[in-house]
Amino acid sequence: MTMRPDIRISPDAGWADATAILLRELGRQAIRLRGRFLLALSGGSTPQRLYQALAQPAKSQTEMDWHRTVFLFGDERCVSPDHPDSNYGMARASLFAPLDIPPGHVHRMSGENPDPRAAADEYERSLRTVVGCTEPEIPSLDLVLLGLGEDGHTASLFPGTTTLLESHRLVTVGRSPKGIPLRLTLTLGVINRASVILFLVTGSTKAQIVRRILAPQTAADRALPAALVTPEPGHLIWMLDQAAASELPSH
Ligand code: 6PG
Repeated sequence: MTMRPDIRISPDAGWADATAILLRELGRQAIRLRGRFLLALSGGSTPQRLYQALAQPAKSQTEMDWHRTVFLFGDERCVSPDHPDSNYGMARASLFAPLDIPPGHVHRMSGENPDPRAAADEYERSLRTVVGCTEPEIPSLDLVLLGLGEDGHTASLFPGTTTLLESHRLVTVGRSPKGIPLRLTLTLGVINRASVILFLVTGSTKAQIVRRILAPQTAADRALPAALVTPEPGHLIWMLDQAAASELPSH
């Protein structure tokens, strides 16, 4: 039985700082428990403000030992790291560079590889090496940060695609109906093994899909990719701003 998600609604303006405080606390817990913080970052536009809040030099250096953090990625577009749509490029500019994170602490997906399948397999090997687990064990990350698309996709797991059925591979190739078509993505198997999954969703354009995921009414709602994120035994947290939460029944 999956635990009910922990839904947290922050004021429209304060969601980045509220999420940064929560993420730092989760990081400190992981470092206390396991000596390091295995964090998979999400992409798209929403997390950029979060990364900028995390990189605030005054607070972050006192409250979080970022040099005990291992930065991974939940997904990446099949572009070079310098491409404007690169999730790694966005995180490098908004988080890694301002915090002076040593390159060895960041494990990006090779979006520039002309063979996405090979890039996915390479990242899977890298993930196992970093976490220290061998097949068939599935690595357990401390925190997977996720966003939500208006169609219910998360990471690069899109509705109605075979990526949702992948039960063996940790990393696979996704195909997006919009924007950069080819993507590299963690699969549900490794996502659902995380100790904590944190969805960060903001803005009124996401209100309807948030309601479909968190207050499903149909089988189609329950089959959406983000609805299949059901960590066991980990915890599921949804951080919403008021606009994104505005169609929830109890809101
Ligand atoms: C990506 C993300 C993707 C994103 C959603 C929401 O690579 O695009 O991993 O899953 O989180 O599409 O994107 P926005 O934050 O831009 O709305």
